[in-house]
Amino acid sequence: MSGEGGGGPHGGGEAPRGGSAGNGGPGARRRRIVAGNWKMHLLGAAAAAYCAELRRGLAAADGSALTPASPDPGAGVQVVLFPSFPLIPAVVRDLAGSEVEVGGQDLHPAERGAHTGDVSAPQLADAGCRWALCGHSERRRDHGESDELIARKLAAAARHGLTPVLCVGETREQREAGETFAVLERQLRTGLASHPAAAGAAVALAAGTAAALVVVAYEPVWAIGTGLTASPETAQEAHDFLRRGICSATGVAAGGVTLLYGGSVTPANAAGLIAQPDVDGFLVGGASLDPGQFLAIIACSG
Ligand code: 13P
Repeated sequence: MSGEGGGGPHGGGEAPRGGSAGNGGPGARRRRIVAGNWKMHLLGAAAAAYCAELRRGLAAADGSALTPASPDPGAGVQVVLFPSFPLIPAVVRDLAGSEVEVGGQDLHPAERGAHTGDVSAPQLADAGCRWALCGHSERRRDHGESDELIARKLAAAARHGLTPVLCVGETREQREAGETFAVLERQLRTGLASHPAAAGAAVALAAGTAAALVVVAYEPVWAIGTGLTASPETAQEAHDFLRRGICSATGVAAGGVTLLYGGSVTPANAAGLIAQPDVDGFLVGGASLDPGQFLAIIACSG
């Protein structure tokens, strides 16, 4: 595990790149992140073998692909894995000393209590996590998570030093009904409402720090696990909209906020997506289960 300060989004201070709302200036770029969401896959032995292969692959790759190797805080790719809860301690141990960070796929908004089957932010942090997914569409679908509940989860993560990754995205029906932007606006605005970077608190935070406190992942539901990827243009349109929305919802200079795309990302389509000015990395599901594919996506995201 790395992350003792300045390297990743936890360290703050990233400079913006590219095209839209809240831009800081040309030349510098936002932190890029490639995250693997293992969902409910892998047993212990397979996870251990995966971590060993990922470490070998990252070590063999140009060191500049990793965050601390470069003096430019905007250079390199922060790699994050989201294993299921029982695997977290072993994955943290197996990745110790690498630059790969680990996160939880979900959390309960309370710090402790009678919540059978749930996991709290302090427990995730105690297990070595630095990140937490909030509001993944599979949680919204399988567990009926509301935007309000997701907002409380996001705030709990932030309170305990975990960088929340707020997942948003429209269903196929919503896209076909022309509701995409209304859905994204609602999920974003409500999801971020309690975040410390939201308007008011933002004034107490340096702009770079506030921007580093949250990552937003655009995951169109129709693209998840379907093999249907958003075209680079469709992803860019949504990311541009989200960046403007983050700025107005939180007061944060959204030019510094990393925006991830998720939904059937593969080594074949990653390069076209990352070339878009507001696509700063990926939240990868299926392809992240194969270390070779995941490494190839990391390699083309730097
Ligand atoms: P797939 O890459 O399998 O489509 O999953 C995307 C996702 O849900 C990541 O969180």
